[in-house]
Order: sequence, then structure tokens, then C-alpha cells
Amino acid sequence: MTVPVAWDENLANELINERSGLEGAMLPILHALQEKFGYVDSRAVAIVANTLNVSRAEVFGTISFYHDFKRQPPLGRTIKLCRAEACQARGAEELAAHLEKSEGVQIDGGYHNGVRVETAFCLGNCALGPNALFDGELFGKLDPQSLRELFAAASRKAGARQ
Ligand code: FES
Repeated sequence: MTVPVAWDENLANELINERSGLEGAMLPILHALQEKFGYVDSRAVAIVANTLNVSRAEVFGTISFYHDFKRQPPLGRTIKLCRAEACQARGAEELAAHLEKSEGVQIDGGYHNGVRVETAFCLGNCALGPNALFDGELFGKLDPQSLRELFAAASRKAGARQ
């Protein structure tokens, strides 16, 4: 995952055209848009629909079906905290509770100090859990202190802390 850039129609066209020939092109296209811009802009919906020769409703339907797709630009940065089974067994729930208490964050709630912490279900690094993902980087073997430090770093990147 890369750091999102501002909406750019030329760039969106490029991403869409590069993938339009793939089988089942809609999902790879939407993922690429989300990855690049941090969300799927409504202006991209028309382009995707025209390129793939489907209705806008179909594109909107796909976006709404998959909760990972966002419709608005992110208000800050996001940390994905794994709370799937293997990470739970390594203390992910206690870690989540600790973060909520120490930082006043609500997991899967809104942005707090420019950072939203959302639940992920397996980041593919189970043996080294509990894990979190931020800016495309995996952070494993988290403990309360390292998670607080990650939150503070994310907050600084969001411009909410100096
Ligand atoms: S369960 Fe957390 S990374 Fe797999």
C-alpha cells in the first residue's frame, strides 16, 4: 500500500485502462483506485462504467458490497489492527483495549488525533502477531508500548501531533 495521492483524472484513466483487459476487471480496477487515492472517487465510477461497458449502478453496487472500498477521501491516516484468531491468541484483544484506554481511540470508530484504527482479519503474518498494518508496512509482535508508538507516529504523519 502506498500513501494516497489527490484525485487526478489522468492518473485514474491510466489505472483503469491498464486493467480493463483483465478478466473480472472491475475489482482490480477499484482496488487500484482505492490504493492510489485512498478511496474511489465518484468521478471514477463513470469512467469505470464506460470503460467496462457496465452501468454506473453496477459499479456503485460493487463498491458498496465490499466494505473495504471508501467513497470519500480519508480524513486522516488508518492503522489496521489484526484481530483475527491467531493474533487474538497472541493478545490482540488486550492490545486493542489498551489502545482504546490509553489513547482514547475507538477501534472502528472515527478519527482520533488524525488516525483511525480499524479491525483487520488476518494480515498474513500470523506467526509474528499481534500485527498491525500502517502505510503498507507490517508491524509484528506488538505490545502496548509499540502500538502506542505506532499510533503516535501515525498521528504525526497525519499532522495532528508535532
Ligand atoms: S491472524 Fe493476525 S496476521 Fe493472521
